[in-house]
Amino acid sequence: MIGMGDLMNTIRKKKKIHIKWKNILIALLILFLLWNLPKVFTKKEEKKVEKKENQVTEKQKEFEKIGKEIDYYNKDYLDRYLAYQLNNKELEETQIIKDVNMNLDQIPYEYRLPSKNTNTEKVLVNKYYYLDENYVPDNLETIDTKYASSNMRLVKPAKEAFESLSKKAKEENLQIIAMSTYRSYQYQVNLYNRYAKEDGVEKADTYSGRPGHSEHQTGLAVDVYNKKENYTNFGKTKEYEWMQQHAHEYGFILRFPEGKEKETGYEVEEWHYRYVGVEIATYIKEHNITLEEYYATKIKDW
Ligand code: DAL
Ligand code: ZN
Repeated sequence: MIGMGDLMNTIRKKKKIHIKWKNILIALLILFLLWNLPKVFTKKEEKKVEKKENQVTEKQKEFEKIGKEIDYYNKDYLDRYLAYQLNNKELEETQIIKDVNMNLDQIPYEYRLPSKNTNTEKVLVNKYYYLDENYVPDNLETIDTKYASSNMRLVKPAKEAFESLSKKAKEENLQIIAMSTYRSYQYQVNLYNRYAKEDGVEKADTYSGRPGHSEHQTGLAVDVYNKKENYTNFGKTKEYEWMQQHAHEYGFILRFPEGKEKETGYEVEEWHYRYVGVEIATYIKEHNITLEEYYATKIKDW
């Protein structure tokens, strides 16, 4: 006969065994999960990487396809095009290629390259391309004081073209007078330091080239005024209108136009002209582009 006490003991024992099995099952399940979960995540990660790689390859292919259609695509810049595209998803590929060719993916003054084509009218000097501190252009000549303040020097072809331009304007009762032309590296050191002291570096960088980075050192740049107004008001004068129509006929371009601050790196300067020769000046005017864009798409001497 099983007594009441024995029955209770048997039930307790069975329960204990049951609880033990439950614990073992739970432990096994946890082990299984611990073993397999990382695998699930790794697979997910692998799939993500694979997807990204596929996307990059797709984008790469797109650039390479476009590269066959446009001759200013630079295959050495492919990684830069792809990186720039990541931060500028709204831009078309052709624009990305142009921007990167202009080094707009880089930090001005941190990414610096020596200017090429020095001593030619093609030279590009800006926040990425610089002239050596000892660079002095060949053939500097002084502009006739009929057309300039005293001791204003430009490289010979630029000087001759400027004199013709100013002479022609004079015949139409307009005064286009050179007031700042070739500036040496050391001159720019003093000028820039003064501006930076007065206005702070950030502001000064919007209107003044740092030493070596001012195209006034090329002997191809000229600041003009009309003798009546301060040069900063040149944009409001009849002489400016005349320059808008005729500067390119003499080989000059308005170097820092309004709306092109991103490309040039500077605020508009209606008084600053740059000699590039009639052919390039005409192309730049007709296509409403800057020297940076011309360089990125036509000269391609990166
Ligand atoms: N003002 C122009 C940007 C220069 O300093 O060259
Ligand atoms: Zn200037």
